[in-house]
Amino acid sequence: MNILLLGSGGREHAIAFKIAQSPLCKSLYIAPGNAGTAAVGENVSLDMSDFPAVGRFVLDHHVDMLVVGPEAPLVAGIADYFKATPELSQVLVVGPCKEGARLEGSKDYAKAFMMRHKIPTARYQTFTRETLADAEAFLDTLLAPYVLKADGLAAGKGVLIEPDLATAKAHLREMLDGKFGAASASVVIEEYLSGIELSVFVLTDGQHYLLLPSAKDYKRIGEDDTGLNTGGMGSISPVPFADKEFMKKVEERIVKPTVRGLRDEKIDYHGFIFVGLMCCNGDPYVIEYNVRMGDPETESVFPRIKSDVVELLEHTARGTLDRASLTVDQRSAACVMMVAGGYPEAYEKGKVITLGEENADVLVFHCGTKMNDEGQLLTNGGRVICTTALAATLPEAILKSYNRAHSITWDGKYLRHDIGQDLLKLMAL
Ligand SMILES: Nc1ncnc2c1ncn2[C@@H]1O[C@H](COP(=O)(O)OP(=O)(O)O)[C@@H](O)[C@H]1O
Ligand SMILES: [Mg+2]
Repeated sequence: MNILLLGSGGREHAIAFKIAQSPLCKSLYIAPGNAGTAAVGENVSLDMSDFPAVGRFVLDHHVDMLVVGPEAPLVAGIADYFKATPELSQVLVVGPCKEGARLEGSKDYAKAFMMRHKIPTARYQTFTRETLADAEAFLDTLLAPYVLKADGLAAGKGVLIEPDLATAKAHLREMLDGKFGAASASVVIEEYLSGIELSVFVLTDGQHYLLLPSAKDYKRIGEDDTGLNTGGMGSISPVPFADKEFMKKVEERIVKPTVRGLRDEKIDYHGFIFVGLMCCNGDPYVIEYNVRMGDPETESVFPRIKSDVVELLEHTARGTLDRASLTVDQRSAACVMMVAGGYPEAYEKGKVITLGEENADVLVFHCGTKMNDEGQLLTNGGRVICTTALAATLPEAILKSYNRAHSITWDGKYLRHDIGQDLLKLMAL
């Protein structure tokens, strides 16, 4: 079949890499893609927020399946657009409808969904400018630190963890006064959960589901999780402490009620659910839902999927996921992200990348890269490129991934040296 994948990051390169391995895939297009995706399919320059343009491409190129990488087109309703347009309604779409995408697009909607379906999450209430006094009174009932979340999409910057009550109240007011624009017109205030964070990924057709491998990502720019937040500096899969017993709890308490909830509420959901979790004393609580795969978690999760990914995605889109099965590589995967100097603040693009010696054993996924007319590989974003190694043990995977990462160079390259070290310490306890 012919497949169009939307997106341009490392997530999309990892997904494209697996799609291209499938004998079921005839042509793979990636829009807009990057220099890495160009090696496994054909990049096309399409604006993914222009649904009619995406639709025209799909018709002109006889695309059978649309796979949506990032959340923005989903929240804007690309799946609904395809369903509602007669000549596109037969195209298979992997990605939820607009209503389903609200699980990521609105924190208040997601929390209310969890309440309705008795899914464990932090205690919360949602407030607006009109209910500021109630919001302050609610903060008074909580213990430090205080968690304030802009309701809407805020490019990963809309959550504030405040150390004391006075700062929390001051920042709450700023948020309700438009600090994050319309996204913070409503603010979710919730109880702070203390524990270890991890993510679990689910593939669902709205009725059935498959539990994909767990992963942990590293958000801060600095070692030991210090400094500014980034899109993600690396990832590990599986998460060693997410053993059978813990995953059973995740499945029974969270995944099953989530999928049942989607079904009971008749929400058309064919796609990925990224469940952000906090493990508190061995019990899982939902921090948030995302309605797509994570980046860079995909770069360590997808290489572990042994099943035919196109077959899985087709079953997802058709609603026949009960006929699919998942085989996972039992080895550990470690992904190390390399970023442009200065990121996540101002950084330069257009630096020439030297890829170093290829090693068949370690995957290299491109994030922000492009090829110039002279065939030079250039940096084209903050997060530039990452390496993923699989090995029998986590320490070996980390070592292999770093060895490969060190052979990739450009002016200003930065990486964290401690990806996975926290998990190794935990395992040693
Ligand atoms: N209730 C909570 N308790 C403790 N930490 C939290 C809580 N909610 C969010 N966080 C922290 O804030 C981060 C961002 O919150 P999240 O809900 O994932 O928002 P987003 O990814 O949209 O910015 C989480 O990854 C987690 O580290
Ligand atoms: Mg998050």
